[in-house]
Amino acid sequence: MLPLTGEAAAHWRTLVAHQRPEWPSMAELGDVVDHLAALPPLVMPQECDTLAARLAQAAEGKAFLLQGGDCAERFDRLSTRAIHSKLRLLHQMAVILAYASAVPVVKVGRLAGQYAKPRSRPTETVAGRTLPVYRGDAVNGIGFSQAERLPDPARLLRMYDASRYTLDVMRAFARGGTDPRQLHKRNQDFVSRSPAGERYEELAGRIGRALSTKNARGGDASHTTELFASHEGLLLDYEAALTRRDPRSGRRYAGSGHMLWIGDRTRQLDGAHVAYFATIDNPIAVKLGPATTPEQALALIDRLDPDRRPGRLTFIVRMGAHRVRYVLPELVEKVTAAGAPVLWVCDPMHGNTVEAPSGHKTRRFDDILAEVAGFFEVHKAFGTHAGGLHIELTGEDVTECVGGGAELGFADLHRSYESACDPRLNGDQALDLTFLVAEMFNPGASGAGAPDAVVNAAPREARHGNSPASSGT
Ligand code: PEP
Ligand code: CO
Repeated sequence: MLPLTGEAAAHWRTLVAHQRPEWPSMAELGDVVDHLAALPPLVMPQECDTLAARLAQAAEGKAFLLQGGDCAERFDRLSTRAIHSKLRLLHQMAVILAYASAVPVVKVGRLAGQYAKPRSRPTETVAGRTLPVYRGDAVNGIGFSQAERLPDPARLLRMYDASRYTLDVMRAFARGGTDPRQLHKRNQDFVSRSPAGERYEELAGRIGRALSTKNARGGDASHTTELFASHEGLLLDYEAALTRRDPRSGRRYAGSGHMLWIGDRTRQLDGAHVAYFATIDNPIAVKLGPATTPEQALALIDRLDPDRRPGRLTFIVRMGAHRVRYVLPELVEKVTAAGAPVLWVCDPMHGNTVEAPSGHKTRRFDDILAEVAGFFEVHKAFGTHAGGLHIELTGEDVTECVGGGAELGFADLHRSYESACDPRLNGDQALDLTFLVAEMFNPGASGAGAPDAVVNAAPREARHGNSPASSGT
């Protein structure tokens, strides 16, 4: 792909940008964009290239991607402590997955820029009163008042500052390295406090022994502390303002984060998001919901990865536990037959959102686990690489998803429901999931059915209908 210049790079501006907020003043937005355009980018092209190289390994089956963090970051929740607890959790999960998969785990936070949300409806009605919906801290406030819900372009500058702070904390954390003994101790602590801990004891012990050997050898410097940042590239005014040409290569990079993804609601082939993403050279991803056709997937590959570079394009599939076995096989089959080197990642969260009797948006742990199992089964059937997990999680002890080792129920949700958007796994639920997923790497324990059972049962109606998967946020 040749570096894009002027007009070609600006083509997306002539197309419809779905989910674009109704900014009350375009003049004010213009001032903010000019301000952003004069600020330094938050990430460096070399860092983005390094991540692309890691993801290329994953696409080739030689690494596994772990991507996780909040559904929506919040300005008023920004703290070193909260960032650290998330990063520690990602590290702990990565160590377990690396041991189980026997390949390096690439850690990518869903953070330092995850401040804008696509929404299913433009308004929200509470007690008969209708206001614009909350679209993430980058756009408006979560409080239910006219003033809070009015989009404010100045919030884009706060997004930049909050992202920069988070990246600073992240880089310092990565420089500090991880002590394998502490990781092992945290695993042991989890196993001893988890009601389901007995089941993980043996695996945790083996991981501990492997960590101590590694420690004796001086650690694995290349992969243990490296961390990257990702977010949904939803607000194109913000993304374009931070896009810069790399003087070394002439290529253009989004400077807002290492990896950006296109959401399931903005992946239209004739839309502005796909067109903008085609102009940047970062590693990118597209979320694929259950309505995705193989033709759409192939067209996205042609538009976004015309040179078929491994590591460039990741498909994050989020089908729902009941659909993944029906919808994913045809996509994997046709994309593989086309020779496209995409990295397949499972988001078991967004297709499994349900409403609790209390009205809370929640997800059942067992559905999340079942979708991951289905994803692994499909890839096993095709001999393709189940290349990663994309999880909404937090290191905090929240009560947003039900189930898991501690068997949180609907009645527990009110205790500590903090998410501004979708329900996240708490630290212990995320570790429960990780230990159970670790078992799936062991062929004897995956529970995978015969390949034929997975591939042939593909009713087309699985892709249609009003699924919880396509409603979501
Ligand atoms: C999200 O990741 O929070 C999200 C809105 O996902 P999707 O685009 O898959 O619905
Ligand atoms: Co979400």
